[in-house]
Amino acid sequence: MTLNPELLQKLANTAGTPFWLYDAATLRQRIADIKFITDSPGVQARFAMKACPATKVLQEMQKAGIWIDAVSGNEVLRALAAGFQGGQEPAQVCLTCDVFRDNALDVVLKHGVLPNIGSPGQIQDLVKAGYKGAISVRVNPGFGHGHVNACDTGGPSSKHGIWFEDFAEINKAAQAAGFPIHMLHAHIGSGPQFDELVDNLTQLAEEFASFLPQLPYLRSVSLGGGIPHNYRDPQAKVPLERLKKLFADCRERLVAAAGRPIGLEIEPGRYYVAPTCILVAKVTDVKRTRDNIKGAGATFAMVDAGFVDLVRPAMYGSYHRITVLPHDGAQRPEVPIVVAGPLCESGDVFTRDDQELLQPRDLPQPEAGDLLVLHDAGAYGYAMSSNYNSIGRAPQLWLEEDGSVQMISRRETLADLLKAECSEKLSV
Ligand SMILES: Cc1ncc(COP(=O)(O)O)c(C=O)c1O
Repeated sequence: MTLNPELLQKLANTAGTPFWLYDAATLRQRIADIKFITDSPGVQARFAMKACPATKVLQEMQKAGIWIDAVSGNEVLRALAAGFQGGQEPAQVCLTCDVFRDNALDVVLKHGVLPNIGSPGQIQDLVKAGYKGAISVRVNPGFGHGHVNACDTGGPSSKHGIWFEDFAEINKAAQAAGFPIHMLHAHIGSGPQFDELVDNLTQLAEEFASFLPQLPYLRSVSLGGGIPHNYRDPQAKVPLERLKKLFADCRERLVAAAGRPIGLEIEPGRYYVAPTCILVAKVTDVKRTRDNIKGAGATFAMVDAGFVDLVRPAMYGSYHRITVLPHDGAQRPEVPIVVAGPLCESGDVFTRDDQELLQPRDLPQPEAGDLLVLHDAGAYGYAMSSNYNSIGRAPQLWLEEDGSVQMISRRETLADLLKAECSEKLSV
């Protein structure tokens, strides 16, 4: 996404800061990449919508023929509201969850979306709810690699899915319940180096191929999300040709093992959306601490966005590129800067590592009034934002390819924050 400082300043004047800005052209390019790597017979892409559930984004996916992986009842409802079909013919929306909470079971029953169970007890949950239909089973294949340890989605430390050695038991329970298994699923994370990702996906397809003889009703295998995005180097490219070949080969391997057509699915989240959105904040002040026996001093650029907006750096020590746009257009020398937000939390810092240590970044000497851009904030950005400190969520803006800009969600107000408060007497 190319920055246009003049446009960003105008938007800051109109919408206030901080704000999120989506770039339709970048999103469409990423969608085209995924369409390319899944452009083989029997290969289908989904979007893991938790990464960015904005209706406008969902509609772009729907127009491109991409299906949805949802993780809650409300995500399913958002997908349906954006134009996706319920039901299982085909299962445009599947619901991947380890726990059915709130309206999840009701939504499965009412809209017939494919439940992708990640915990053995969920078969009984479905039986008790009166569900009749097919299921998908999320397997923990015993290996995988997240972008940080907290995001490891396969292996003994992962809470996701059903351990692969327990699959035969789950299969028996599904048969007893009358639930044909239509899909086998695993997600092995988006952290590894590309070669490791290829090895892991190949190994996963092999492991799943060995399950096929037990699964007469199986229609597809999902290899999950996990296509990496390089947050440090905007020029880095994922080798799309190699992925396309890998998915086509994996599918062929599965078809050969089953002796009949089996579909192959992938469901990336971050790859589609990470580079499509920036978070734009304003520098409100610059201040310093000094060296003492506790450690080295630092220069802090105080900005009006915090981890209520973009939590990834505070939560995982994730790296986001930062650009300072000087208010006077001047070229300024680079100095090591800690970028910190408005929250009453010491960890409200965008430049820190996963050990919670400050990592000052060399940036053009910021001044109050400058704009500061946090790049690649489209995946798990607005989607993870919160109302902590009673700060409303910042507005989301959408830059169309013709240069027009639309606000797709407004800044939240106090009324929004108080909307769910009530004083209802409960009969207990
Ligand atoms: C089941 C499942 N599918 C898809 C994804 C999307 O992963 P990513 O956004 O890294 O592509 C995740 C992420 O954790 C996941 O757990």
